[in-house]
Amino acid sequence: VVSRTACNSKGSMIVVSNRLPFVLKRNEKTGELERKASAGGLVTAVAPVVIRCKGIWVGWPGVHLDDPNEKIPESDPNDKTPTSGLLSSKIVAIHAEPKLFDSYYNGCCNGTFWPLFHSMPDRTTFIADHWKAYIKINEEFAEKTVHALKLLKQSKEKNNNSPPIVWVHDYHLMLAANWIRQRAEEDELKCKLAFFLHIPFPPWDIFRLLPWSDVVLQGILGCDMVGFHITDYCLNFIDCCQRNLGCRVDRKNLLVELGGRTICVRPLPIGVPFDRFVQLAHNAKTVLSTSQKVILGVDRLDYTKGLVHRLKAFERLLEKHPEHIEKVVLLQIAVPSRTDVKEYQDLKEEMDQLVGRINGRFTTPNWSPIRYIYGCVGQEELAAFYRDAAVALVTPLRDGMNLVAKEFVACQINNPPGVLILSPFAGAGEMMHEALICNPYELDDAAEVMHRALIMPEDERTVRMNHLRRREQLNDVDSWMKSFLKAMDSLEEEADDIGAT
Ligand code: ADP
Ligand code: F6P
Repeated sequence: VVSRTACNSKGSMIVVSNRLPFVLKRNEKTGELERKASAGGLVTAVAPVVIRCKGIWVGWPGVHLDDPNEKIPESDPNDKTPTSGLLSSKIVAIHAEPKLFDSYYNGCCNGTFWPLFHSMPDRTTFIADHWKAYIKINEEFAEKTVHALKLLKQSKEKNNNSPPIVWVHDYHLMLAANWIRQRAEEDELKCKLAFFLHIPFPPWDIFRLLPWSDVVLQGILGCDMVGFHITDYCLNFIDCCQRNLGCRVDRKNLLVELGGRTICVRPLPIGVPFDRFVQLAHNAKTVLSTSQKVILGVDRLDYTKGLVHRLKAFERLLEKHPEHIEKVVLLQIAVPSRTDVKEYQDLKEEMDQLVGRINGRFTTPNWSPIRYIYGCVGQEELAAFYRDAAVALVTPLRDGMNLVAKEFVACQINNPPGVLILSPFAGAGEMMHEALICNPYELDDAAEVMHRALIMPEDERTVRMNHLRRREQLNDVDSWMKSFLKAMDSLEEEADDIGAT
C-alpha cells in the first residue's frame, strides 16, 4: 500500500492506459458483466493513489460491448485487490468498433511499435490502415480524457486550485497527450500532462524507420513531463527530438523545447511491490521437488524475451556439461500473449517443436530436461517457484525493464539463496549489477554462465543476492510512484532551466 506521503499529489489524477486496471468478463450463465482484477505492480502502485485523490481511470475494459452505455459493475465485495475501491463512477471506458480496435492494437501497437521500439525492424510492419486506426483510437482516448477532466472540474469532492495530473501510459497512446492538451486549452480545463513509456525508446537510427516518426514525437511532446525506465532511453528520445524535429535540447538536464514550451524528460525506473512478494514467498507452499536443481524462466510468450535462444543455450549446457544431466531441470513458464498476432503464433509453434526436440534428445527413464508450462500461474505458486529455484534465467533480447528479475530477488528468502542470470539488454540490467550478466545471443557463453550459476559457492550467492535484494526493496514500486509525483511537483522550476545543448 502506498504510504500517505507518497499519495499527496496536490491535485487529483487521471490515469490513461490501454487497459483498465481490471478486465470485464461476461458471466456465461447470468449474462452479467463481472470485473476480473489485475495484480500487476503498476496497478498496485497507481490504483491507491487514484482512489485516494478521487481521480479517474480511462482505459479499455477488455471486452467489446454491444451497448456502449452498459454500466460498468462495481467490484465484488470479496475482492481485496487494490482496484476494489475504484468505483464505477471513476472509470471512463473506451468503446471501439472491434475491427478498428484490432487494427490499432494487434496491427499498429503490436505489429509496428512493439517490435520497432525493441530494435527489431525485421519483424516490424508499416501499414497505413493500422496507423489510421491508431490515430482514431488515440483521438477517442483523448476525447474521453477531456470528458474525465470535465467530470473532475464539476466534482465538489476535490475542489482545490491545483490542476489535476493527467498521466498517459505506454506505446499504445503516444498521440493522445497532444490532443488532450489542445482540447483542454480550448475548453479552459487546466491540467499537468505526463507520459510514461514502459518499453525501450530506441536509438534514432531505428526510430527514423517509422514513416510517422515526427507525429509520434509531437504527440509525446504534448506532455509537460516524459518518463522512461532508464537514462539511455531518455537520451535516445532527446536525440530523436533534436534530429527529427530540430528541437533545442539540453542533454545534461534532460530538457526539450518545442513551440515555446519546455518538456522535462526523466528516468524513472519502475520497481515491484517488494514486501508483497516477500510475504507471498513466506506463505507459499512448496511446489517444486528437491531432487533436482531448477533453472526457472517466467515470461509472456514474446519473441523479445529470447526464449528460443534460452532453450538452445540450455541444450548447449547439457552437451558441454553432461554432469548436469538428471541433476538439473529447466522449468519454463510462458503466459500466452497477443495470440491473434502471427509472430506470436509462430513462436508458439517453434517453442513446442524445440522443447520436444531437446526433451527427445536428452530424456532418460527417470528425467526430462525441460518442463514447459504454457499458461498463467497464480501469484502464490509463482512466489514458490521464485523462492525455490536455484537459478532464474532472465535473458530477453531486449526489454524495457523486466519485472520478473525483481520479483525473483524479492522472493529469495531461503538461505543460501539462488542466482539471477540477467541479460544486459533489459532495463533491469542497468542496475542489478550483482546478477550474472549473460548475452543471450552468445549460446556458448550463456551455457557457461548457467554452469557457473549452478556451481557457485554459497557465500558468493549470498553476497550477490543480499545486494540485489537491498536495492530492490529500497527502489520498490511505491518509491517509483513517489519519484513520479516529486518530478511532477518540481516541473515549474525545471522549465526555467533550459541551457546549453
Ligand atoms: P512484460 O511487461 O513485457 O510482460 P515484465 O517482466 O516486466 O514483462 O512483467 C511481466 C509480469 O507478468 C510480471 O509481473 C510477472 O510476474 C507476470 N508473469 C509473467 N509470466 C507469468 C506467468 N506465467 N504466470 C503469472 N504471471 C506471470
Ligand atoms: O510492458 C509492456 C506491456 O505492453 C504492458 O503495457 C502490458 O500490460 C504488457 O506489456 C502486456 O501486454 P498486453 O497488454 O498487450 O497484453
